[in-house]
Amino acid sequence: MGGLRVARLAFRPLARQRGGMKNLTLLGLPGALRAGSSNRFLVRNAARLMGDGVTYVEADLALPLYDGDLEDGTGIPAPVQTLADQIAAADAVVISTPEYNKNLSGVLKNALDWVSRTEGNPWAGKPVALMSAAGGRSGGERALNSLVLAMMPFRATLVPGPDICVADSNNQFDADGLLINTRVEKSLTTRMQTLRAATGG
Ligand SMILES: Cc1cc2nc3c(=O)[nH]c(=O)nc-3n(C[C@H](O)[C@H](O)[C@H](O)COP(=O)(O)O)c2cc1C
Repeated sequence: MGGLRVARLAFRPLARQRGGMKNLTLLGLPGALRAGSSNRFLVRNAARLMGDGVTYVEADLALPLYDGDLEDGTGIPAPVQTLADQIAAADAVVISTPEYNKNLSGVLKNALDWVSRTEGNPWAGKPVALMSAAGGRSGGERALNSLVLAMMPFRATLVPGPDICVADSNNQFDADGLLINTRVEKSLTTRMQTLRAATGG
């Protein structure tokens, strides 16, 4: 057993070289806070389908509401700065929004507004994939469109690809949070390959 483990470790870097895949960090922003959020599950599946050598970091968007008095009084809150630093450090970002009354979630918009108040612009040139998961039949397509608009000021590199709008989202993941819809999984795999290519590897 011990010998086998060593052999595996010894061969892994060679396999990566052949496959041309570099190690990278993917940051996930689920636009809903609840633990069982379908958007949380979607970004986790996106990380799983991105391929080998991916370190997945999940952002915590439970931030205070943006308040100019808070900013003037005590500056950028620590969790906001953490989020901005995570975006800056990531090779790529995936954001998934629920649809609330045909729009992106307030949680997500609040996070984007806060990050825009930090020093520098961590989004500039960052490869980003946007997607949605919602209870309705359109899978949050209108929320996704509003998220595209919300991201416009930040000059991120929004990667195209098959649209990922997961309809009836609370019935698309198993008890472990794995996607059960093979059609969505196929599109998501293609999308994550495109995102990976945008990072250069
Ligand atoms: C305030 C509110 C508004 C909603 N509006 C919509 C909507 O416009 N379209 C839709 O498809 N689902 C709508 N839903 C249902 C959400 O898509 C559903 O709750 C979804 O599971 C939320 O994402 P989550 O699983 O990541 O928490 C709404 C839910 C809430 C709480």
